[in-house]
Amino acid sequence: MNVFYGDVVVVGSGVAGLTCALELSKEFDNIVLITKKFLEDSNSYLAQGGMAVMKSVEDRKVFLEDTLKAGHYKNNKRAVEILIDESQDAIRTLVGYGAKFQREKGEYSYTREGGHSVNRILYCGDYTGRAIMEALIEKVKACSKIKILEKYTMEDLLIHNKVCYGIYARGRENILIRGKKTVLATGGIGGIYKNSTNYSHIRGDGIALAIRHKVGLKDISYVQIHPTALYEEGDKRKFLISESLRGEGAIILNHKKERFTYELNPRDIVSQAIIREMKKEEVSHQWLRLSNIKVDIEKRFPKIYEQLKSMAIDPYNEDVPIVPAQHYTMGGIEVDLFGRTSMLGLYAVGEVACTGVHGENRLASNSLLESVVYAKRVAKSIANSRYVKEYKGNFKINNLDSYRNSEVIGEVIKIDKLAKIK
Ligand code: SIN
Repeated sequence: MNVFYGDVVVVGSGVAGLTCALELSKEFDNIVLITKKFLEDSNSYLAQGGMAVMKSVEDRKVFLEDTLKAGHYKNNKRAVEILIDESQDAIRTLVGYGAKFQREKGEYSYTREGGHSVNRILYCGDYTGRAIMEALIEKVKACSKIKILEKYTMEDLLIHNKVCYGIYARGRENILIRGKKTVLATGGIGGIYKNSTNYSHIRGDGIALAIRHKVGLKDISYVQIHPTALYEEGDKRKFLISESLRGEGAIILNHKKERFTYELNPRDIVSQAIIREMKKEEVSHQWLRLSNIKVDIEKRFPKIYEQLKSMAIDPYNEDVPIVPAQHYTMGGIEVDLFGRTSMLGLYAVGEVACTGVHGENRLASNSLLESVVYAKRVAKSIANSRYVKEYKGNFKINNLDSYRNSEVIGEVIKIDKLAKIK
């Protein structure tokens, strides 16, 4: 079996994984970054809306309250304070890596989404994730300290005496990646849902391994349903119709073409209202009207415009069919404020991790922000920690096969829900 060695092994290539690898490269010479498909194939790349940021100190209290309120006050308040206090630094870091956000006359432009009291979301058209990812990918590829392994699936963790020393993965061949520290940035569980805005290959691999090895989980039943995915028949990934369209004035209508909800409520409230109305009317979708929004659709939302055009929908004159779909996993592998899991040597960051920052329902555009803020903290924490002694012996390894379906995770979600009812 081929064996690779890294000071740190990073699993996953979304914004969290790439930022973490780049930050780690400031301290370490040998980082191995592994991803299941290609670097571009992450949910971060699909992100449309944007990245929330504290605009000024006056905004701190309001941003905090918006995040806590959207999360039904089940958030870890300290984690939210960190998110907000370190948000401007996170933007500076991304800009330093080459990311560009929309500006007007030299000043940042801000948009708004559900649950935000003010416009505080930085964006790049309706392809903010892609814009950030392209910058990060360019930097990662140019960094001689980061070895990239694409098209490898993590199958197991390498564990000795309850300490994690890397991973076992399968691809063109089976490989061991031995490391002193391992960071899971493997994303959420959207791929196990029939209707999701997520890539189907992102199906909770990190969480499944945490379950197998009894690494602590938190709030695993907190799963977010986005109110406005584009309605299409069939099981393929649902295309997102960004909430920022509603921030710009789009309205939701039922089949009688009447409004039935406030469009800028937090998204769990809007999703529930749509599902209730669909049941009441016995229909499979509802409608989003874009014709009255304040900006030019084609210019401001080019990706959405293209998608609608390809389906012969004219958003200037026709309502768009929308349906709620799974979008985000708030719960995950329980971590502290430095991304440390309950297993020594193992860290988690981004959607796979649960810092508690989102509570029961994530505030829009807080996920890219969380990924960057906490990826930086993980990198710092690894750099500051004493190395665990390297383990040179052999590992007992398994394949993920028996875990690679919704059943194991679904079962844990059910147990978590029951535990909450008790
Ligand atoms: C959206 O653009 O509606 C999604 C943004 C997010 O998931 O925060």
